Amino acid sequence: MSAASTSVSTTVLKSVPMFGTFPDEQLRALATMVTRRNATRGTAIMHAGDPTDSLYIVVSGRLKVMMGEADGKEVILSIIGPGEFFGEMGLIDDSPRSATVIAIEPCELLAVHKRAFKKCLNENLALAMAVMRVLVQRLRAADRKIGSLAMLDVYGRVARLLLDVSENVNGEKVVTRRLTKQDIARMVGASREMVSRVMKDLETSGYFEVRGSTIVLRDPTRPPR
Ligand code: CMP
Repeated sequence: MSAASTSVSTTVLKSVPMFGTFPDEQLRALATMVTRRNATRGTAIMHAGDPTDSLYIVVSGRLKVMMGEADGKEVILSIIGPGEFFGEMGLIDDSPRSATVIAIEPCELLAVHKRAFKKCLNENLALAMAVMRVLVQRLRAADRKIGSLAMLDVYGRVARLLLDVSENVNGEKVVTRRLTKQDIARMVGASREMVSRVMKDLETSGYFEVRGSTIVLRDPTRPPR
């Protein structure tokens, strides 16, 4: 990963949702503590077990948060994109990194050092609330995933994942994110071959339709099969 520049404009910081409510004075102070970094596709920004130093905010590009790289059985916990952040857990509880984070596209990141982040948290309740909101959302997503793994078959898990990552576009639920079958397999805990078969069945049965590079969910309330 390369540090492209050490200065970050307050305009860039203001466009980041977690800093959106910061007064100009705090943004100016923060700008002096943030480093801009670029990562090429495939770069590991952190590995599970590493000591913690910084929080990262994604300006552009996407990254996967994953576990299990050492034994070759990769599990994708989440895919993170522009406006989102990662690396906050270790800063909050002073523990080593809980997961590995790898760029799946060229990424532009902002790195906030541990000391600066803790100082900001101390001085800004809105920031502390924004971080807590994201942690709660991640806990909810993790609960849903545990429920899916325990209670749904692969059809149900794939259908639920597609629904979870879909967005409302003109009244339709559309998956615009590029996800390979391998990504989906690693997100639902199944083999790529199984996911290929399930996706084919779900499409044939009319659960979704492929339109160009997007997947349109036809009737997400109807359970698959
Ligand atoms: P940290 O433990 O410091 O380093 C790894 C980061 O991955 C972690 O902080 C979070 O930011 C992120 N992370 C870990 N688990 C999840 C998850 N289930 N969903 C989204 N992000 C996660």
